[in-house]
Amino acid sequence: MSKHRVSRRQFLNYTLTGVGGFMAAGMLMPMLRFAVDPVLEASAGGNFVATKQKVADLTDKPTRVNFSFTQKDAWYESDVTNIAWVYKNNDGKIVALNPTCKHLGCTVDWNTNKDHPNQFFCPCHFGRYTKDGTNVPGTPPLKPLDMYEYKVKDGILYLGAVVPHKEA
Ligand code: FES
Repeated sequence: MSKHRVSRRQFLNYTLTGVGGFMAAGMLMPMLRFAVDPVLEASAGGNFVATKQKVADLTDKPTRVNFSFTQKDAWYESDVTNIAWVYKNNDGKIVALNPTCKHLGCTVDWNTNKDHPNQFFCPCHFGRYTKDGTNVPGTPPLKPLDMYEYKVKDGILYLGAVVPHKEA
C-alpha cells in the first residue's frame, strides 16, 4: 500500500481549488473574449456582404438597404439582418450610414419627422442628424452616425465593417 495517502483535508483542498479554478476560468473567458473581440473584428474588416442594391439605382436620396448574413459566435450560428442608409453625394461618391443612434443606440429613420424634413430622426429622444450623418447640435446625440465600409462589384453594393464617421 502506498505511503502517499491523501488526507481528507488535502482532498477537500484539491477539490475546492479545482472547482474554484474551473469557475474562475468560466468567468474570465467571456471577459477576455469581450476584450479581444474588437481586435478580431477590426482585422476581419475585409468581409463584405453582397446586398441586393444596384449601385446604378442609387440617387442622392438615402435609400434603406437591408442585408443579411450568418453570424458565427463560437458554436452558435444565427442569421443577422442589418440596415444601412445609402446614397450618392454631390461628387457621386457612395455614403453608407449605420442607423444606430449615437445617443443610446436606437435606430434612426430617414425623413420621418415632419417638423424636420430630410434629416435622420431618432424616435427615442428626438435625436436628429443631417443627410451626411452629422449630429444636429442641441439634440441628444453628440457624435455623427457611424458608416459602413463598402465596395462595388459587378454593379452591386457590398457592405462591410462599421467604422467611425469620416468624410465621404
Ligand atoms: S437613442 Fe437616439 S436620441 Fe436617444
